[in-house]
Amino acid sequence: MSEYATLDFLTDQSLVPNPYPYFDYLREQNPVLEVPPWGCIAVTGYEEAVAVYKNTDAFSNAVALGGPFPPLPFTPEGDDISEQLEAHRHLLPMFEHMVTMDPPDHTKARSLLNRLLTPRRLKENEDFMWKLADVQLDEFLDNGKCEFLAEYAKPFSLLVIADLLGVPEEDHKQFRTKLGADRPGARVGSLEQEVVDENPLQFLDDKFIAYLEDRRANPREDVLTSLATALYPDDSVPPVIEVVRSATFLFAAGQETTTKLLSAAMRVLAENPEVQQQLRDDRSLIPTFIEESLRLESPVKCDFRLARKTTEVGGVLIKAGAPVMVLPGAVNRDPKRFENPHELRLDRKNVREHMAFGRGVHSCPGGPLARVEGRVSIERLLDRMGDITVDPEKHGPIGDQNFNYEPTFVLRGLTELNINYTPLR
Ligand code: HEM
Repeated sequence: MSEYATLDFLTDQSLVPNPYPYFDYLREQNPVLEVPPWGCIAVTGYEEAVAVYKNTDAFSNAVALGGPFPPLPFTPEGDDISEQLEAHRHLLPMFEHMVTMDPPDHTKARSLLNRLLTPRRLKENEDFMWKLADVQLDEFLDNGKCEFLAEYAKPFSLLVIADLLGVPEEDHKQFRTKLGADRPGARVGSLEQEVVDENPLQFLDDKFIAYLEDRRANPREDVLTSLATALYPDDSVPPVIEVVRSATFLFAAGQETTTKLLSAAMRVLAENPEVQQQLRDDRSLIPTFIEESLRLESPVKCDFRLARKTTEVGGVLIKAGAPVMVLPGAVNRDPKRFENPHELRLDRKNVREHMAFGRGVHSCPGGPLARVEGRVSIERLLDRMGDITVDPEKHGPIGDQNFNYEPTFVLRGLTELNINYTPLR
């Protein structure tokens, strides 16, 4: 469609409800394509995205979250801007978080998560999830209806991360309130989040500084102690604030994304009684269903890189200094990789090849956790809710229903999802 040629993906709200035809248009022009008006290089092809993600020498994460916003604090010169980038890095947004770092600093920052993401810790966290799913459901199940994000997905994904980090259970209520997961319609822990009552990121910083200082002074047998005593790969002791940043970033990175996965999956179930029945009849299909939900509605729509060195990808020369926009939501519907890419298929063979969690050194460390959150939630929701349907009072009559999506280019997710069901037990 020709109107797409001049359309600005980063600001045009018309693409929010359904960005996929536009993604297809871009890929059909070229899987690596310069798009107006910010000069971003859109990467919509699968192989081409792998090439960008894997080449950390040529493509920096310095602008991973904001892309061309704000503009670079320098004018790129020549075919290698490494020195200019390093001189100005501290002026870029979120420069202190691992997602915007490059190796070797990135390797150090990420290593602090190693103690949290061990198989043993993930198993303990899963045990917590099974209990938590029921605690959440008990709060509203008898009503026979709910707004799924506020009443289930947001508090669930928040408290799973709190548990992963070893936040004591007596503090969970406070986390829920302070991080806005108690109010219907509230947004939780977003990188773009408005201040709710007080700055939630400040709350997290203060809380974790206190926890970690306490555990360094008085070590105990708990997760916070193991986080507080984690060393860098060269055995040096990280300053408390560095550990705090790695820890609190998990809330920003893991909550909204998982909420979006859970609500996308729930929308499919509520709209498709036959899929719902298939999963009820054969629970072993749930993991594939989660992967297809991730592929079809990738919560991260857009993931930026900065070309540090002039480099060719897919036959296109990308100039040093150009913002590169990798679109997992588009890559995951590349027909060269996924047959009938717009269809949900519970028998898809290469179902785990999607890139909803990125690829390469920055690939999502929370991926295994999010997958388990999806599996546990769907299991318990199916156990305890019969005949799940979309609420016609809130979304309109069947066949003509409306759903609102977050008005942002970064993430893809419903703002609310109202469902009706029969409480089972
Ligand atoms: C469905 C849920 C999730 C999705 C779709 C998702 C997606 C992503 C993607 C695409 C990236 C790569 C960013 C880049 O390459 O620039 C990423 C990074 C990250 N994610 Fe997730 N994520 C999810 C859940 C989580 C959870 C539950 C956690 C924490 C427990 C988490 C923690 C992180 C962190 C810390 C990073 C930065 C890693 C780095 O820069 O090395 N994510 N995520």
